[in-house]
Amino acid sequence: MEFSTQSSASLHQIKTSALAIGVFTNQVLTPAADIIDRASNGAIRKVLKSEFSAKSGSHLVLRNLEGIKAERIVLVGLGDQDKYQAAQHKTAESTFAHYCIQAKLSEAVSTLAGVDCNGTTLRQRSSGAAQAVLAASYRFDATLSTKAEAIKLSKYLQWVPRTLVSESKAGLDEGTAIGKGVNFTRLLADLPPNICTPTYLAEQAKQLGKTYPSLKVEVLQRKQMEALKMGSFLSVAKGSVEPPVFIIIKHKPAKKAADDAAPLVLVGKGLTFDAGGISLKPAANMDEMKYDMGGAASVMGSMLAVAELNVNHEVIGVIASCENLPSGAANKPGDVVTSMAGKTIEILNTDAEGRLVLCDALTYVERFKPAAVVDIATLTGACVVALGHINSGLFSPDDSLAEELLNAAKQSGDSAWRMPLDERYQEQLKSNFADIANIGGPAAGSVTAACFLQRFTSAYPWAHLDVAGTAWRSGKDKGATGRPVPLLVQFVLDRCQQAK
Ligand code: BES
Ligand code: MN
Ligand code: ZN
Repeated sequence: MEFSTQSSASLHQIKTSALAIGVFTNQVLTPAADIIDRASNGAIRKVLKSEFSAKSGSHLVLRNLEGIKAERIVLVGLGDQDKYQAAQHKTAESTFAHYCIQAKLSEAVSTLAGVDCNGTTLRQRSSGAAQAVLAASYRFDATLSTKAEAIKLSKYLQWVPRTLVSESKAGLDEGTAIGKGVNFTRLLADLPPNICTPTYLAEQAKQLGKTYPSLKVEVLQRKQMEALKMGSFLSVAKGSVEPPVFIIIKHKPAKKAADDAAPLVLVGKGLTFDAGGISLKPAANMDEMKYDMGGAASVMGSMLAVAELNVNHEVIGVIASCENLPSGAANKPGDVVTSMAGKTIEILNTDAEGRLVLCDALTYVERFKPAAVVDIATLTGACVVALGHINSGLFSPDDSLAEELLNAAKQSGDSAWRMPLDERYQEQLKSNFADIANIGGPAAGSVTAACFLQRFTSAYPWAHLDVAGTAWRSGKDKGATGRPVPLLVQFVLDRCQQAK
């Protein structure tokens, strides 16, 4: 897919198969719609009177309008003008992209990013446009015997006034990188667990390193993890015959441009399947536990985007990956294991394995002396109960880091909600037989999970994103979302001030 900017002065002269024009409800025309309306002798106002209400997400195709060079004018509903924001803009771009793909067009021009919307810059809207088009282009067919038809759309032009061309281009580049990262994350997460094993994730990481010279990839095997004394992580892995892996992906920016500030570190939970172990999960929907590597997949997708954008700052992605299965060698309730940090853990529920895996990864990353560490995990069903499928749960004892992440969430439209993390919850993790228990009872399950992780993060500013409700969709549209890649990339860009 090729994205570019067009700034020809006269919109009605543009030759294209489809030109997207935004309209608000109550027949409020955007400047672009107004130009087309005048050039076509009022054709737009005419349909707005009766046929098109301009609800957000709707569209209407007008062909061969007199005075207009474009084959089709696609009216895209923007909803109410006073409610128009980044999310509605993304919906509009996505509506147009889906239309172009479904109509099998090979190129199209959109004027939608030119519509000002509250609290967004053209750069962000351009990024949103590229992301929407790439998201609409995602098809999962890796395990279908009939492959999806190739998408014809290969050129997407964004029309903006000449003075805004560079801002538009910068946004399209950013959105392209994020969109690619999101689709890579979705693919990894959607792949079945017999294909996407820990070893497969490691191979994909190595492949990333081959594609992007700024990425240096290292994969630790069980022996090396044993030497590091990752007793907690390895205790989860031992229930499966699939070998665990610990993946480190370092983005080293080109020397000349680089700042030498401490690295940002992303840590992903990479359970390629979570059956619960001896504390076995119920059978219904257990297939969805292939998505328990969604955090890891988002780290891989974010690293892809960071490399693609040549981010001028060191970023390190770390993934702890294994399966959680019941077997004769698996963890048992009551087992006590020793983490890399030396703290002992009583495993009261083998299904609370994410924290057992992550705590050793969080200890490992101390060696990077990070400026900040963000872990991403499909950690608790309780987070889904609390926040549903709208917001990812954000936990951090560090107010300024939390603020930064919330801001990145808001800007990217990949929303998160801050959850509490105070000392009083730690009480629930007391054990009579170890330094800490791996569950804290049914109350505030997502908070006590975060409290568990917090015990291993005293060496650096840290935040935790629980994406159990946001990494994938269930039901008839079952599939990975690629979240929270947009949030993470925005956070990285804001940190190194590459985003304006
Ligand atoms: N991977 C699950 C969390 C999960 C469950 C995510 C359902 C999305 C949907 C995690 O490993 C887990 O099983 N957590 C337990 C913790 C409990 C035993 C304290 C849970 O949430 O039930
Ligand atoms: Mn589990
Ligand atoms: Zn899990």
